[in-house]
Amino acid sequence: MQPAITYRLIKKEKHTGARLGEITTPHGTFRTPIFMPVGTQATVKTLSPEELEDMHATIILANTYHLWLRPGEDIVEEAGGLHKFMNWNKGILTDSGGFQVFSLAKNRDITEKGVTFKNEINGANMFLSPEKAMAIENALGPDIMMSLDECPPYFESYDYVKKSVERTSRWAERGLKAHKNPDWQGLFGIVQGAGFEDLRKQSARDLVGLDFPGYSIGGLSVGESKSEMNRVLDFTAPLLPENKPRYLMGVGATDSLIDGVIRGVDMFDCVLPTRIARRGTVMTSHGRLVVKNAKYARDFTPMDDQCDCYACRNYTRAYIRHLIKADETFGMRLCSLHNLHYLINLMKRVQQAIIDDNLLDLRAEVFEQYG
Ligand code: GUN
Ligand code: ZN
Repeated sequence: MQPAITYRLIKKEKHTGARLGEITTPHGTFRTPIFMPVGTQATVKTLSPEELEDMHATIILANTYHLWLRPGEDIVEEAGGLHKFMNWNKGILTDSGGFQVFSLAKNRDITEKGVTFKNEINGANMFLSPEKAMAIENALGPDIMMSLDECPPYFESYDYVKKSVERTSRWAERGLKAHKNPDWQGLFGIVQGAGFEDLRKQSARDLVGLDFPGYSIGGLSVGESKSEMNRVLDFTAPLLPENKPRYLMGVGATDSLIDGVIRGVDMFDCVLPTRIARRGTVMTSHGRLVVKNAKYARDFTPMDDQCDCYACRNYTRAYIRHLIKADETFGMRLCSLHNLHYLINLMKRVQQAIIDDNLLDLRAEVFEQYG
C-alpha cells in the first residue's frame, strides 16, 4: 500500500543543511519548507478559500477539538468531509485536540485512558482518548492528522515530563492501531520531551519505531526563549528520518521560521499572522508595522512597498488604520490577507535560498528587519 503522505528530499542547503523537499498528499503536491495558515473552525478567519488559493496556500490547518464540539464531526462527515464542507480542495491538516484541551478546557483530568474535560459550549462532560481522536479525525477527513499527545508545560519537572513522554508514546501507538484510513490519511506522531535532551531522544526513538509517515515536534513556542527553542531543535531534528516530513507546531514568527528551517524543519503553522492582523499589526519587509497607530492617520502609502498582495496594491495605511479603528471587518481582512501573503512568500524565498545556497544571507536580512 502506498502511504497517503510521501516526502521527497530535493536538496540540502550547502551551509546549513536546510531541506528543500516535496510533500505529496491526496489533495496535491507542494514544495517545502512551508507555512500553513490556521483555520481552526474550518475557516481561515475572515478569508475565503479563493483568497487563500490566490496567495498560493497549499495546505491549511483545522482543529479537531473545535470541530468535534461544534458542529460535530458527524455533520462534517455527512457533508462529505472537511474539504467539501469548507470548499477547499487543497491540503488540510488537523491537530488532534490534545493541545487545545490542555490550553482551553476547564476541569480537565488526564489519565492513561485519555482526558476528561467540560465542554465550554454546553457544559457537558467530554472524554478524549487516542482512539476517539482518531475516530473524529477519520470522520473529518483531512490529508494529515495528528496523534493525541500531551504537551506538558515547558518548565515541568523531569519526572513529570518523562512519564508524560512515555504516555504520549503509548497514545501514539494506540492511535496508529485505531486509524481506519491509512491509504488516504497520513497520521503523524508528535515528539515531546520539553527541554530534556534524553527525553526528546526517547520520544523520537519510540515514535520513529512506529514508522509514521511524518513527525511533528511539539511542546515548543510555549513560553521558552527563542535560543532555548533553537537548542531543543538542534538535538531533536536530527533524530528524525531524512525521508519523512518534519512539522514544528505553533511557530510563525519570521525569525523562528528561518531558524527552524536551518535546523531541518519542513512545515510550520501559527495563529500569529492572522491574530495580529485582526488587531491591526502587519509583518512587512521593514519589520512589524502597527498600522493601527495614530502616526499612520495621514499616511497614504501601502502597508509594505515591497508587497504585491491585494491589500498593498489597492489600499493605504491611512485607510486600513481607519477600518481597524472603526472595527470594520474589511480592515481585518486586508491585514490578514497581507500577513499570510507575506509569510507564504517568505517561505518561497526560503526555498529559493536553499536552491541558491544563500539562506544565511536571507536570515541576516530578515533578522535586520525584525531585530
Ligand atoms: N500545537 C502547538 N504545540 C503543540 C503540541 O505540542 N501538541 C499539539 N497536539 N499541538 C500543538
Ligand atoms: Zn501586502
